[in-house]
Amino acid sequence: MLSQNWIDRANRVVMRTYGRQPLALVKGDGCRVWDADGKEYLDFVAGLAVCNLGHAHPEVARAAAEQLAKLVHVSNLYYTAPMTELAEELVRLSFADRVFFANSGAEVNEGAIKLCRRYSRERYGEGRHFIISTYNSFHGRTLGALSATGQEKFHKGFEPLLEGFIFVPFNDLEAAARAADERVCAVLVEPIQGEGGVCLPDADYLAGLRRLCDDQGLLLVFDEVQTGLGRTGEVFAHEHYGVTPDVMTLAKALANGLPMGALLTTEDAARAFVPGTHASTFGGGPVIAAAALTALRLLSQPEFLAQVRVKGQYVKNSLKLLQEQFTVIKEIRGLGLMWGIELDREGGPVVDFCRERGLLLNCTQGNVIRLLPPLTVNLDEINRGLQILTAALVAV
Ligand SMILES: Cc1ncc(COP(=O)(O)O)c(C=O)c1O
Repeated sequence: MLSQNWIDRANRVVMRTYGRQPLALVKGDGCRVWDADGKEYLDFVAGLAVCNLGHAHPEVARAAAEQLAKLVHVSNLYYTAPMTELAEELVRLSFADRVFFANSGAEVNEGAIKLCRRYSRERYGEGRHFIISTYNSFHGRTLGALSATGQEKFHKGFEPLLEGFIFVPFNDLEAAARAADERVCAVLVEPIQGEGGVCLPDADYLAGLRRLCDDQGLLLVFDEVQTGLGRTGEVFAHEHYGVTPDVMTLAKALANGLPMGALLTTEDAARAFVPGTHASTFGGGPVIAAAALTALRLLSQPEFLAQVRVKGQYVKNSLKLLQEQFTVIKEIRGLGLMWGIELDREGGPVVDFCRERGLLLNCTQGNVIRLLPPLTVNLDEINRGLQILTAALVAV
């Protein structure tokens, strides 16, 4: 019972910030991971939408290892090739003209909040620093990103939060329009709410927010930390909706498991940051940038994205059949390979049942089973995962 040994040791010394599964993982390969006792699991969590190319991707590993042996870190006082090439690639693939690199989703959302405030201050003067955000959103755990997060349960005990956020219901354009008064500088939204339970935007919602921002001179910020980088079958989820933001944040899958975040924006908005206004010691470091560049080139191949859409459609059809079979399923929601199965009861027992039979799943909001497999998952693996899930639904 090596796993139990690691679990006991960790529980003595690591802070208790996570509700963890009783599993100590030591190895990964593609869609599979192994625990310290040698048991194999199909991983439909993928580090919560991080390992989009699967575990231990050989090309990403090689890119990181080669760069590790060449140059690991210099200050952002200097230019480096991997960061430059990665920024060029992100600009080529997106609406953006410029990129700022950091180390996590929360950190780039902090950057986005600062950028919106400074842009507004330069353009309109003081007092216009409020950001409209949505209930049920998730933007990270640092104080600014937490304050932007529209879920009280995460705020509890950390007040006073950063002031300057107005919350409106997701998918409610009228509420957003009512909130957009003279104090507001931006609208911040996940194109698909992830942690909030895989909630999709109505067909006209993002376009409506775009119109609102254009009419009122607000910046539209998409948090694509979870939805970005192939997860939905396009490089960025907003491409499905034909809407372009002014600012976008990425993290999670950007370096396929190494920590990296990116803040992307237009030339116009980027002017708000000048030397000295924002920085990160490790942001865009050569090793992670080299890994990310390799990952991004693989993730953005049209054939790769087409495969994600095909597999996503297969998952969707299979889940629809499951829904017809099991009344415990209230709703299925998703796009590409990002799916939520809303149950009429707590999802914990389903997650536990599946783990014991070799399938890792996540549950969010208490009753939404979230499927976020690596985008490299094959049909056999999807079928195997769905079989285990079916057995779990029979059992609960
Ligand atoms: C949409 C979204 N934004 C931000 C974050 C925070 O990212 P990180 O944990 O890298 O700070 C998350 C994490 O789940 C997320 O899903």
